[in-house]
Amino acid sequence: MRCTGCARAIALPDLKENFRCPECGDLYEVEYPGWSTQNGRGFVDGGVRCNPPNASALRWLWKERRSSTELKDQSGVWRFRELLPILRDEQHIVSLREGNTPLYHLVRTADATGADRVFAKHQGMNPTGSFKDTGMTTALSVAYERGFSWVACASTGNTSAAMAAYAARAGMRSLVLIPEGKIAWGKLSQALDYGALTIQLKTDFDGCVEVLSEVVRRAPVYLLNSVNPYRLEGQKTPALEIAEQMNWDVPDHVIVPGGNLANSSALGKGFLEMKQLGLVDRVPRVSVVQAEGANPLYRSMRESGGERLEPVEAHTRASAIRIGNPASWKKCRNVVRATGGWVEQATEAEIALAKAEIGAEGIGCEPASAVTLVGLKKFLAEGKIGVHETVVLLLTGHTLKDSDYTIDYHRGKLLRDEEIGDLGAEIEITRRNTIELEADAEAVLRELEKAQ
Ligand code: F0G
Repeated sequence: MRCTGCARAIALPDLKENFRCPECGDLYEVEYPGWSTQNGRGFVDGGVRCNPPNASALRWLWKERRSSTELKDQSGVWRFRELLPILRDEQHIVSLREGNTPLYHLVRTADATGADRVFAKHQGMNPTGSFKDTGMTTALSVAYERGFSWVACASTGNTSAAMAAYAARAGMRSLVLIPEGKIAWGKLSQALDYGALTIQLKTDFDGCVEVLSEVVRRAPVYLLNSVNPYRLEGQKTPALEIAEQMNWDVPDHVIVPGGNLANSSALGKGFLEMKQLGLVDRVPRVSVVQAEGANPLYRSMRESGGERLEPVEAHTRASAIRIGNPASWKKCRNVVRATGGWVEQATEAEIALAKAEIGAEGIGCEPASAVTLVGLKKFLAEGKIGVHETVVLLLTGHTLKDSDYTIDYHRGKLLRDEEIGDLGAEIEITRRNTIELEADAEAVLRELEKAQ
């Protein structure tokens, strides 16, 4: 484990329960010594220097595992376990067969934007409907292996849904702290369904994080927020899947939503490690998009080039990313810098319109995921992305997570006029309200005729 602040490396048993460095308070990252094939040093395994892994043998092995009937092979995370040496015993893997999510070609987006090679990596197609499953299988398996009975997280909803499900699979108990009234019902219902002890606190997400940090100091519960570096190890695997799905020719750009800023960090780690290991010969630019009302990294990049981050009081209807004091901002900034990406922001109306456009592709996503399409439009307009470049949008959550948002949008109840601004015409084209009629075929046929 290496501290991302002061670069001090520590041995695993010295890791504190809040996963922060006792010297500088920063977060740790799992680092695999000797994972560089470039300096000819090879691979270090148990103190023994080995040959670097053979990239084509790994690619073949990972593909072969997809046809296996074993759980650890069927998981789209653990199938890459050569890059996840974090458990002592594979028997401790807790999995719901996460990962292996689809990469869709966005045909209508191509028509609308002129960029013809735009894809969506849909992490909402995971077992609990969000990307959190890929990190939960790794970190919760570590908790299980270490004999914890309780796991806990503060959440804007998706982490709690994933944690509750994986804890239930392992026969463990889970404690969820969520901001009262500020998470989507779909997510809350999952935590209850999977049996979590669910506590709504009269504060926001950042306040829940503070309370939980005291709880984990005083009780033997294992913290599963994304400050836990094992979460990021699992969350790096979609980068491997993207490369695999594109025949190991990585895209030019990957655009990721930003909240607590762990997911973007994890994906960047995945691409950079693949490059180190010779699995790919370049890395995509990883760019991050935040909601305008929850944009501390965007501001930080503008105001200090990413040197300092001022927390903000966060407001956005994309409740998954309503986060004002992101824990992993330095890791994320490092990834954006290392890959040559950018940080953008999206207004409420831009997010809602982009979400409807992704819905109209027959795919759908939750509001937080739609910021990626807003980012794409802005990067194209600014010439940062060329129309012939290959772009992957990371869709992080399933459309059914927040169906209230979708229904309010289509009924015209989501946005105020002053929020809509000059997007009114585009929003109008995408809106589809329901029509109430008597049970009469004639009346239905008339509507069909009108809709031609
Ligand atoms: N998209 C969705 C659907 C999310 O649920 C989250 C984060 C993000 C994007 C942002 O990812 O935090 O790694 O930058 N949700 C967390 C939660 C905070 O508690 O479910 P990030």
